[in-house]
Amino acid sequence: MSSQTFEFGKNFRNFLKGILNSPKQSVHVDFKLDDNEIQGNIFGFNKPFQVLLKVMFNEDLASSESVLKNISEKLTSIKNVKSYRKKRRSNPELISSEVWANAGFEIDKENPDKFDRKKILIILSSDRKEVLEKELENLKKEFERLPAELKISPMGQRLPGNKEHFGFKDGISQPFVPGLTKKKNLVGYGELPNLPGDYIFGYPSSREEDQTPFFGSLASKNGSLLVYLQLKQNTKEFDEYLTRAVIELKKKYSDLKISKGWLAAKLMGRWKDGTPIEQTESENKYGLGCPFSSHIHKAYPRRKLNTIPITKSRILRRGIPYGDSQDKKAEKGLLFICYQTSLKSQFEFIYGNMLDSDFPLPNSGFDPFGPKNSRLGNTTIFTLPLRNQDGTIVHELLEIPKFVELITGGYFFMPSISYFNSIINTFGEK
Ligand code: HEM
Repeated sequence: MSSQTFEFGKNFRNFLKGILNSPKQSVHVDFKLDDNEIQGNIFGFNKPFQVLLKVMFNEDLASSESVLKNISEKLTSIKNVKSYRKKRRSNPELISSEVWANAGFEIDKENPDKFDRKKILIILSSDRKEVLEKELENLKKEFERLPAELKISPMGQRLPGNKEHFGFKDGISQPFVPGLTKKKNLVGYGELPNLPGDYIFGYPSSREEDQTPFFGSLASKNGSLLVYLQLKQNTKEFDEYLTRAVIELKKKYSDLKISKGWLAAKLMGRWKDGTPIEQTESENKYGLGCPFSSHIHKAYPRRKLNTIPITKSRILRRGIPYGDSQDKKAEKGLLFICYQTSLKSQFEFIYGNMLDSDFPLPNSGFDPFGPKNSRLGNTTIFTLPLRNQDGTIVHELLEIPKFVELITGGYFFMPSISYFNSIINTFGEK
């Protein structure tokens, strides 16, 4: 079993003392990640093709036992993923014909401390589309014979340069979790390591306070909570909006170098190639470089917020785009997936802030990539701080169409591999 021992440095200890509000506490964190037990997509399958299946059984679970045992044999651990990555490093051309699988149970909406063993999420991933499609076909046939309802996501497919459909490079900023993520991805506050228990149950966590009874118990050890959202992206509307808005802005601010790429970067908070927007400290103070309501700033504000311990509210993003980028008519979007150990303090905190104009500061504006929302309507207000020719700062309020639509989604518990198997083994019992 590969393992990780990590001792946090002085800076991090001081930082933790601050957020845990216990100045005398000395934080020495020593842990071994159980790579054999943790499901591999938490580390990141990162395969070119991926699909999600949700299977909902009626009461007759016994008949599903053999199909699910078949799935449980395919469950791919972090150890499997790491050893495959190692092989690929020495042979970058390597293309595997394997199908990787992860599986978990839907969390009961009424009672978020419980999961429903009759509602199962399966994630299948492969290097080869035809192999994945064949596996999917076989599974479909098997499930169709059972008293179960099946929902299948569109085929997730990575785009060249790891971009999403609006054309931005994705997967850049992730929290640094020793043993789980690479240090080279660090940006801003992300340079401080996060604790593994913020993403996987049973390890030291910076948020012991919100562990609910089941998810704080031994049974949840090596498991994680997954949020899945199928987000449709209206790429045509996005492009048309940029064209229109740039014409208007240029009329008003003829001295500024305004282009579609520039406006897109303001909305996202990054240039399309992933580079951060360069800004001086004073520009940062007023949001003149990277606006406060840009997507990345909403999701992870790069500024000191005294009241909100932002570093406790990060997520491991493991999404994949879907839809053919070359086909203008095809539906396109993102199969958004993230992992955490508290829905409330992590995913819901970020998602709620995207739709809250007063975060991170009063009147910051809404996240332009926040999904359409019946309460908030089909357009949103984006606040773009700009400097006038006379040096004054103006806040241009842009009314923009919502480019993102929530199609479906859910919350799931992704247990350790042995706990998943132990649950499946109870299906045959009367
Ligand atoms: C279709 C909708 C979305 C698109 C196109 C999108 C795209 C992106 C892109 C391009 C980045 C910057 C690249 C990176 O830092 O990895 C990013 C960052 C991020 N997104 Fe999204 N995203 C979407 C929805 C969401 C949702 C629903 C959430 C969570 C509730 C979310 C959370 C985040 C977070 C936490 C970051 C990292 C922020 C940072 O640390 O800088 N995104 N997203």
